[in-house]
Amino acid sequence: MKVSVIIPAAGGGSRFGGDKLSRDLRGRPVLVRTIEAFTRRDEVTQIIVAGPPDDFDEFVDRFGAVLGFHGVVLVKGGRTDRWESVTLALESVSSDATHVAVHDAARPCVSQDLLDRVFEAAARLDAVMPGVEISSTVKEVDRDRARDVATSDALADAILGEETASTIEAMPVMRTVPRQSLILAQTPQVFRVDLLAKAASSGAMTGVTDDASAVAQLGVDVHVVPGDSRNIKITRPEDLDLAAAILSPMVGARP
Ligand code: CTP
Ligand code: MG
Repeated sequence: MKVSVIIPAAGGGSRFGGDKLSRDLRGRPVLVRTIEAFTRRDEVTQIIVAGPPDDFDEFVDRFGAVLGFHGVVLVKGGRTDRWESVTLALESVSSDATHVAVHDAARPCVSQDLLDRVFEAAARLDAVMPGVEISSTVKEVDRDRARDVATSDALADAILGEETASTIEAMPVMRTVPRQSLILAQTPQVFRVDLLAKAASSGAMTGVTDDASAVAQLGVDVHVVPGDSRNIKITRPEDLDLAAAILSPMVGARP
């Protein structure tokens, strides 16, 4: 198998509060850590990174040298949605690729064991993704009926006649969702190259938040293999500390 890896890295990191991919993660930028997980793989023959289209020159200034050293192809991604970045990167997939793997730039803690599993399965199945079971009870809530509960600080302030903005949002529970058949989707998601190309050309990629949903729309069976709870997506600022702990030599997530 010859795998082209697409790394969507064009997001603005709004929930993080800015450019998360340039942040230091144990001595290297997050994006570089993510790429290094794939540069050591025999089945990976190409890596394509989709960078932010509006800050592309700055992105190339920052990462061009190190990514060039690894032979990474840099393309401009989409302005708003991840699926646009993946669709644009697909145009650069080399003609000899048999499979395409799509992996979030914001998942630098992906382990070699997980990659072993996903690529092994993808050599035999058309569409494979890692997933993790949900360990907590899952509730459906009614966000439209959320109410703000005053904290005791707020009550004290009210008695003292002072203004305060201290409230707790409380949302009513609608029901408990059975979680036996639910999994949390991770990346890399790996597909036969023609299937992801077909998903893109047929418009099935439009609006999806993961690539497997686009391929599933073609009627292809997508299979989930065991993921890893340490394969987190850095989304909010506290996730960076968690990623640093996961990659700590003491914890030893990376074999
Ligand atoms: N991504 C992308 N192109 C976009 C939007 C997102 O390539 N137009 C990438 C991000 O860079 C990230 C991955 O998709 O590696 C997963 O997205 P997410 O974690 O949501 O990152 P952001 O979109 O940057 O963050 P936010 O949604 O908080 O703005
Ligand atoms: Mg996003």
